[in-house]
Amino acid sequence: MTYFQLHSFGGHFARGIRMSRIRRCSLFGFALVQDTFAKLGGMRAVLLLSLILSGCHATKPEPATVSYLRLGWSQPDDLPEMESLLQQFTRETGIRVRDLPVPETTLDQLDLSRRLLKQAAAGPDVLAVDVIWPGVLQPDLVDLQREVADEFPLLEPQLLRSYEADGKLAAVPYTVQVGVLQYRRDLLREYGYQRPPRTWDELEKMAARIQAGERAKGNKDFWGYVWQGAVAEALTCNAIEWQAAAGGGRIVESNRTISVNNPAAIGSWQRAKHWIGWISPPSVLAYQELDSLNIFDKGGAAFGRIWGGASITRTALFRQMHWRNSLAQSITGYTTIPGGLTGGAGTLGGSGLAVSQHSSHRREALEFVRFLIRAQIYSNQVEESAVRAKLVIRPASETGSQYEQVARAYIDTVHSVLTGEKPAPEAAAALEKELVRITGFPIGPPLKRD
Ligand code: GLC
Repeated sequence: MTYFQLHSFGGHFARGIRMSRIRRCSLFGFALVQDTFAKLGGMRAVLLLSLILSGCHATKPEPATVSYLRLGWSQPDDLPEMESLLQQFTRETGIRVRDLPVPETTLDQLDLSRRLLKQAAAGPDVLAVDVIWPGVLQPDLVDLQREVADEFPLLEPQLLRSYEADGKLAAVPYTVQVGVLQYRRDLLREYGYQRPPRTWDELEKMAARIQAGERAKGNKDFWGYVWQGAVAEALTCNAIEWQAAAGGGRIVESNRTISVNNPAAIGSWQRAKHWIGWISPPSVLAYQELDSLNIFDKGGAAFGRIWGGASITRTALFRQMHWRNSLAQSITGYTTIPGGLTGGAGTLGGSGLAVSQHSSHRREALEFVRFLIRAQIYSNQVEESAVRAKLVIRPASETGSQYEQVARAYIDTVHSVLTGEKPAPEAAAALEKELVRITGFPIGPPLKRD
């Protein structure tokens, strides 16, 4: 199963793109002529119309190059499909795409995007923006509200809203990722489990038992559960899932109160600390997505936290999930993140496509964005469906331009608890103070249905 299954439908998309360009051009000409009829009289207006139409069809546009700052990390399996999609766009529109290299983590990518956007026209024309950064980057991005409007009715409204910042649509949803649990089907069967774990308690039991059994067979480095514990945004995603399962809130609630200092959140961090050295390797404290993925793929763990792909389209969101083309696919199962008191939820991740305010190729950049979005909508429509995921949303829209500071403070705090540097209750109290200072928001309890 792949993300982009568009190749054989290239002609269809290209026709769509060319037709709409001609239609827009003619409509513009028509409107102008209607207006001019009134002002200039018939003959001169007809002359103007023929000039406009010949301009639309006869002159070949200069080939432009659009620079594209794509995602640093998505799934390694996506890259070849992306390559051929970019080539297809160039073949069909004449517009070339220059792919800019990007760092692996989303915080580093944010730094780079911000720096490049400040270079004005020398910066990227099109950027992939993580769902958490619209509030931070929006001053340098074009409002796409009207520009990509044809595609909107097909897109999931909740997703569109997560790319709004200060009344502006800073990016259009492009990829959706949801935190999920991958597990070794074969090992679960071997150890007598009929189904994957539904709660963290169950996961702990299964992980510990499978780990002990595999080590007894001689696989000394085998671990029960691998996840992402490095000082990086992936830790926010893991930890907010632990909190959500325990009823510990989402750091800042939708009513703009800071809820992080509560017993359920504290308990969930303590539980994760206990995993380290027991069912998770001590090096998990330095793991990001690719590290845990590698361990799982080489057969070194029973369970792993990973991103699953979901659809951007309205009808299918959070139901249709696509998975990696892992070598271990036949023995890998996927399920929702385990729950606790309140049932599990996966973090909403993913990215949108944005256009730089400073781009000198805005028309081509918008055309490229529309092309990628349509390709994605099409590929989502042919996906098979799988797990239905409940979501936990990071408080990016509540905190806007301050989300980066909020996340950095949260990541440092949770990491200091996991390493044992700080006791969890103390760390939560200090974080609460820090978040009040950053946001100016009041303190409140986690909201039940947030
Ligand atoms: C994935 C998600 C993104 C998240 C990041 C954290 O790329 O799509 O939303 O912030 O992982 O590492």
